[in-house]
Amino acid sequence: MNILVTGATGLLGRSVFRQLAANPDWQVTGTCHSRSGPGLLPLDLSEPGQIRNALEQLQPDVVIHCAAERWPDRCANQPDAAWALNVDATALLAGACEELGAQLVYISTDYVFDGTAPPYSADARPAPINFYGRSKRAGEEAVLACHGHWVLRLPLLFGPVEEPRESGVTALLDTIRTREPMALDHWAIRYPTSVEEVASVLEQCLRLKAGGEILSGIYHWSGDTACTRFELAMMIADLLQLDCRHISADSAPHFVEPRPQNCQLDKARLLALGIRGGPPLPQQLASVLRPLHEEPVESG
Ligand SMILES: NC(=O)c1ccc[n+]([C@@H]2O[C@H](COP(=O)([O-])OP(=O)(O)OC[C@H]3O[C@@H](n4cnc5c(N)ncnc54)[C@H](OP(=O)(O)O)[C@@H]3O)[C@@H](O)[C@H]2O)c1
Repeated sequence: MNILVTGATGLLGRSVFRQLAANPDWQVTGTCHSRSGPGLLPLDLSEPGQIRNALEQLQPDVVIHCAAERWPDRCANQPDAAWALNVDATALLAGACEELGAQLVYISTDYVFDGTAPPYSADARPAPINFYGRSKRAGEEAVLACHGHWVLRLPLLFGPVEEPRESGVTALLDTIRTREPMALDHWAIRYPTSVEEVASVLEQCLRLKAGGEILSGIYHWSGDTACTRFELAMMIADLLQLDCRHISADSAPHFVEPRPQNCQLDKARLLALGIRGGPPLPQQLASVLRPLHEEPVESG
């Protein structure tokens, strides 16, 4: 199978690219934009000509579309740029894939829901409450309007990072280590999910496809542990034996952009296909956080 991964320099794309490329039967190309990396293909998704050229040159069977603007506050501050990437570029890519016979897998988010009625099945009605969620939902609609593509919705992600603040989960390590008093969100319930687990889920899906399974529509994947940011910080402090007495719980946090409270994703559709997850959250967190904790803390 010939696979193209967009956003292969990002938090999720790096793991997806690495894991799929390790399969000797598959030919995998990853794309980069402002960053670069060995063997990655530069691709600016805001340039329609570049999208078409890349697809015509590579002739992929599957495109895993990880590239996106995924920070809700940055989306709200730069709505035109976020819409251009999350919606317009996705629509172009989806249309070109359909025309050239490639299947597009669109990575989406639990933020397409309003967070008031969890758990959400794959056919639950989306009702995003912030700009990021609306842009990702519009991206989904563009993808699902084409024949044969599918969508994978994910919750809060963590994994190997270039710097801790790259993910809201690893960023908590700095929050704990800087020892400044801090009140953390104890209202929104999240389901931290490892990018390496997601990469494995995607690999399992592609193996099913190679075996003749037809994947279509919307799928959900999620870690199983529910926690607020405050509870997650306590879990991290406990794992790494760090003092966290300077951290308190904020049960009524203020957000610049609105956040849904609990978007728990029901992953029954993928479980029914036999897709399996990884080790429990503390084990996954420890393997990501321990190497970071061994690095020196940056001084102010
Ligand atoms: N992170 C989460 O907690 C989370 C949760 C749920 C769903 N998701 C979804 O998961 C997907 C991956 O997110 P992520 O966390 O990996 O994002 P990320 O770390 O911010 O990476 C974004 C990727 O998009 C690329 N990109 C940005 N602008 C581009 C452009 N104009 N043309 C081509 N590529 C461009 C970036 O390339 P350069 O860095 O090289 O510029 C980077 O590889 C997204 O669809 C996101 O909505 C993420």
